[in-house]
Amino acid sequence: MEKFVVTGEVQLNGTIRVGGAKNAALPIMAATLLCSGVSVIHDVPCLSDINAMQEIMRLLGAKITREGRTLVIDTTAIHKNEVPEHLMREMRASVFLMGPLLGRFHKVRLSYPGGCAIGHRPIDLHLKALEKMGTVVKEKFGYIDAEAASLSGGEIYLDFPSVGATENAMMAAVLAEGVTIICNAAREPEIYDLQSFLNKMGAKVSGAGTDTIRIDGVRRLKPAEHTIICDRIQAGTYLIAGAISRGDVVVENVVPEHLFSVIDKLEEIGAVLEVGSRSIRVRSKELRGVDIKTLPHPGFATDLQAPILSLLTIAKGTSIVTETIFENRFKHVDELMRMGAKIKVEGRTAVIRGVPKLTGSAVTAPDLRAGGALVLAALAAEGTTEIEQIYHIDRGYENLEENLKNLGAQIARVKSV
Ligand code: EPZ
Repeated sequence: MEKFVVTGEVQLNGTIRVGGAKNAALPIMAATLLCSGVSVIHDVPCLSDINAMQEIMRLLGAKITREGRTLVIDTTAIHKNEVPEHLMREMRASVFLMGPLLGRFHKVRLSYPGGCAIGHRPIDLHLKALEKMGTVVKEKFGYIDAEAASLSGGEIYLDFPSVGATENAMMAAVLAEGVTIICNAAREPEIYDLQSFLNKMGAKVSGAGTDTIRIDGVRRLKPAEHTIICDRIQAGTYLIAGAISRGDVVVENVVPEHLFSVIDKLEEIGAVLEVGSRSIRVRSKELRGVDIKTLPHPGFATDLQAPILSLLTIAKGTSIVTETIFENRFKHVDELMRMGAKIKVEGRTAVIRGVPKLTGSAVTAPDLRAGGALVLAALAAEGTTEIEQIYHIDRGYENLEENLKNLGAQIARVKSV
């Protein structure tokens, strides 16, 4: 096991370039299973979640080679459509394999994806969408068997704009007979990137980015080449790092319109932002408390709730943060309180009373984004902070300690005793 050792109160200064988005790459990797042949995906981040998806796809028969930030995925020899339990538990995003395997083989078997630290993560909306297209779903002994003699288009209404359910429905619908309409679809930028890739494969998908997506089924698809969109969550995290360290940081390779809610909130808190066409500069002055509510895109992203909450712990006054997307996404609070933060959680709401300074402590990363939040807090804290269980962080933050070191941070990855 490894941990981060961070010496705080160091201003970050310089430029950081973010790479491709994990949450765009995972469904697009799954989508390559919709046809036989060799697809080429560029700017795929080097993350453990990506490695896990590669392993699962290899187990199904795909041949995947990594050339730098490019994945070459050959799906010619796919010979299995079952995802074993231990791999489903390792990475619940393997649920994205349902749609493509159904679309190509009309049959898929996978174990129920476990919940995780942030919530139960049910997949009822995924299954309801697939059933609307003629899939028969049987759930027993912890496994899901989904089969469709033929997939036919239909009108799907999502009770909640679920990102994963939207993506699974899109991938099942592209080879279905007829037209599928997804109402109350998720509008995240990663959905739009999936639509772009599917259309490069020869699919007919439109409306991604709005709450209604139309898919006209086609008979077959072909492999495609694609570059993954930049990771707005990593970009937002580095902007917050610049603000919390009271430094001067430029984040490059961003799409500002993917970050409007974060930009708005950082300015409300008192950071000074200069927004370019593909970069954002952040400097921070006096920080003041604000209220934040996470919402489906384009609302404030739940994946940046923990990171910005770290910033609010040292902002003047009181802040109220409401987490509307996941039921258990305040696990960073206990760890931040060990660093001197004053926070009270009631259900899905956290009330934060700003303190002048945090102090370094021994803390443990409870999940991916909470782990990122603890690194941000450690950058500003007086003294040294040790962060255990950083494997959570490695799931979604690429070269975090190298990137922060390049901005002047004092952070080291060391073996835990
Ligand atoms: C995706 O998860 C992301 N993961 C998450 O990022 C992100 O937090 C989330 O979308 C919201 O933006 C990937 O893209 C790999 P949802 P997903 O379905 O698809 C409930 C990270 O840190 N729900 O939009 O699982 C669910 O319980 C990760 O990178 C149902 O009730 O999110 C949750 O409360 C964490 N039934 C809410 O919807 C369902 O069938 C949002 O879930 C599906 C979801």
